[in-house]
Amino acid sequence: QVRRITPSAFRARKGDTPLVCLTAYTTPVARLVDAECDLVLVGDSVGMVLHGLPSTLGVTMEMMILHGQAVARGLQRALMVVDMPFGSYEESPEQAFRNAARIMAETGAGAVKLEGGTAMADTIRFLTARSIPVMAHVGLTPQAINTLGGYKVQGRGDDAARVLADAHTVAEAGAFSVVLEKVPASLADRITAEVPIPTIGIGASSGCDGQVLVVDDMLGLFTEFKPKFAKRYAELGESARAAIAAYAEDVRSRRFPAPEHIFGDAK
Ligand code: KIV
Ligand code: NA
Repeated sequence: QVRRITPSAFRARKGDTPLVCLTAYTTPVARLVDAECDLVLVGDSVGMVLHGLPSTLGVTMEMMILHGQAVARGLQRALMVVDMPFGSYEESPEQAFRNAARIMAETGAGAVKLEGGTAMADTIRFLTARSIPVMAHVGLTPQAINTLGGYKVQGRGDDAARVLADAHTVAEAGAFSVVLEKVPASLADRITAEVPIPTIGIGASSGCDGQVLVVDDMLGLFTEFKPKFAKRYAELGESARAAIAAYAEDVRSRRFPAPEHIFGDAK
C-alpha cells in the first residue's frame, strides 16, 4: 500500500519542483491521474462538468460526498482534496466545521478547499485548529459569480492589493496551500514569492508552485465553453463522437454485432 501524500508534505514542497494537480470526479479518472498527480481535487466544477448545471452554485454536500467517495476508491498516492460547496461554510466557522468534518469522515479526503480570502480567515483558523487541513482559493472564486459580475480576471491594477492581502491572510490563518485563479501573472509571481505556502495556479503563472486544471477541460471532454487557461492535451470529446457515429452506422447496416460478438447454441 502506497502512502498518500499529506497536506504537510504537500506544503513542504514550496519552492521545490512544481506540484501537479488535476480534478477528478469518478473512480476511473482518479485511477488515471493518480500516478502523475501530487494532489487530486474533487472540485465543485463537477456540477458544471458532469451534471450540466449553469454554475457551481447548485452543487450540494451530497454531490461532493458521492463524487469524493468515488475518487477515493481510485487513489493510492495523491492527496485528495474535496471542495466545500456553496452555502456549506460561509455562515459561520461552526457551520463550516460541521460540513467539513462530514466531508472528511464520509470521503476519506485529506483536506477540504473553500473559496475566499480575508472574509474566510476566521473559518480557516477554526478548521485548521480542529484538525481539518484547508486549501484556500483566491482571485476568481466562481461561487462569487453573482457579486463579481462574471468570470473576470481578478487583481488587475488597484485591485492587486486586495488579492495580495487575501493570499497573505489565508496563509496566516493556516491554509496549507492556496489556489490562485485567473489573476495577472505578475501578481501570481509576487504572491508566490511572498506567501510561505504553495500557490497553485489556474490561469495564473508558470511561476506558481504548482498548477491545476479541470481534467475534462484538458482532455477535451467538456466543450460547452473553453476558458483561455484551459490548454487541451487531447480531444477525447471528438474521439468519442466519432466512435459513437461509427457504432450507429454499424448498427444501422447490421455490421454489428459480428460473428465474434454473438453466441452459438452449442455449449
Ligand atoms: O472546482 C474546481 O475544479 C476548482 C479548480 C478549478 C481549482 O476549484
Ligand atoms: Na471549485
